[in-house]
Amino acid sequence: MRTYVCPECATSTPITPTVWRCDCGSPLDLSPLPPAPVVVDDAERSLWRYRAALAFDGPAIGWRSVTLGEGVTPLVSAETGGEAVEGGAADVRFKLDFLMPSLSYKDRGAAVLVTQAAAMGVERLVADSSGNAGVAIAAYAARAGIAAEVFVPAATSPKKVSQLRAFGASVRQIEGSRPDAAAAAVERVEATGAFYASHVYNPFFLEGTKTFAYEVWEQLGRQVPTTVVLPAGNGTLLLGAALGFAELVAAGAARQAPRLVAVQSALCDPVAAAWAGRDADLTGWTATVAEGIAIPTPPRLGQMVAAVRASGGVFLTATDEAILAARAELWSRGIDVEPTAAAVWAAWQAWPEARAATGPVIIALSGAGLKAA
Ligand SMILES: Cc1ncc(COP(=O)(O)O)c(C=O)c1O
Ligand SMILES: [Zn+2]
Repeated sequence: MRTYVCPECATSTPITPTVWRCDCGSPLDLSPLPPAPVVVDDAERSLWRYRAALAFDGPAIGWRSVTLGEGVTPLVSAETGGEAVEGGAADVRFKLDFLMPSLSYKDRGAAVLVTQAAAMGVERLVADSSGNAGVAIAAYAARAGIAAEVFVPAATSPKKVSQLRAFGASVRQIEGSRPDAAAAAVERVEATGAFYASHVYNPFFLEGTKTFAYEVWEQLGRQVPTTVVLPAGNGTLLLGAALGFAELVAAGAARQAPRLVAVQSALCDPVAAAWAGRDADLTGWTATVAEGIAIPTPPRLGQMVAAVRASGGVFLTATDEAILAARAELWSRGIDVEPTAAAVWAAWQAWPEARAATGPVIIALSGAGLKAA
């Protein structure tokens, strides 16, 4: 039986619908699975092809009635016209992780988290989000027949709010910041006993995002890349990818996990600052175009720093100007992503050491352009 385990104080807690953090306040992890050879179900064309590695006890988890076919997103070369990408390594590839049912990588986490909620008999859930995670949770909640109430900051992109409404969620637009929306969600959870479908605290979300690593490994011919470049706000893709690659190494499917290059907005860089041992710049965190990674106090900050450090990677930051230029440069390649997603390409291209990188280098593109103005 798997349990929740606290990464801070090591306390184990049974998995129930009402537990959403450790008594010490920390987000939770799942107790690790014993290492086992990787099993891929070739007949399943979604992230559920890796379900043998997911955290469920027993076979009857009901995933087939929740899945929308998420995952198995394209991995395409960044070379144009046979020429290596300017200033980049020989083999740079874009992982088009915005090609998902709700148009962001968050569907990986939401599909697995909502499957777990449905398995526990949850009928009502509460979530908070800068936008995309809430949209993804709302989509899968609709699919699973679970009522969803989603708290977002008032400034969330109108298109993400209309997605939330379309999926039938009760939308609560909170006058205030991203942390204010989280506080309002927690208040509602505590007042009503609803299931808190938090992508930040609930480790089943990371179980879903870890399939990013399994997919990249499979798409590269069962090899891991040298480098993965990812956006980092609360770290759900970063920590999920780190978990997936660690499992692949533990399973004997890879010798060494890739170096993780995590990207923050220059206007909101608390994790990059902690990693570098300097003061954070939060002056413009409510104003950056990279709304998805504008998280001033991520609850998993320590885990994010540790994951990047253990991988031999780095934190980079991107200015708004560079992010918008990178978004336009991606358009010129036929790729349309939202600014948050373009930040990784901006940061990678501006990083002097990128020129010396040997591939494969994976650039995670996390959210679709139609979500933004
Ligand atoms: C498109 C996109 N990319 C990246 C992120 C960052 O994810 P996380 O905050 O889990 O690091 C988000 C979060 O909302 C997002 O919407
Ligand atoms: Zn604890």
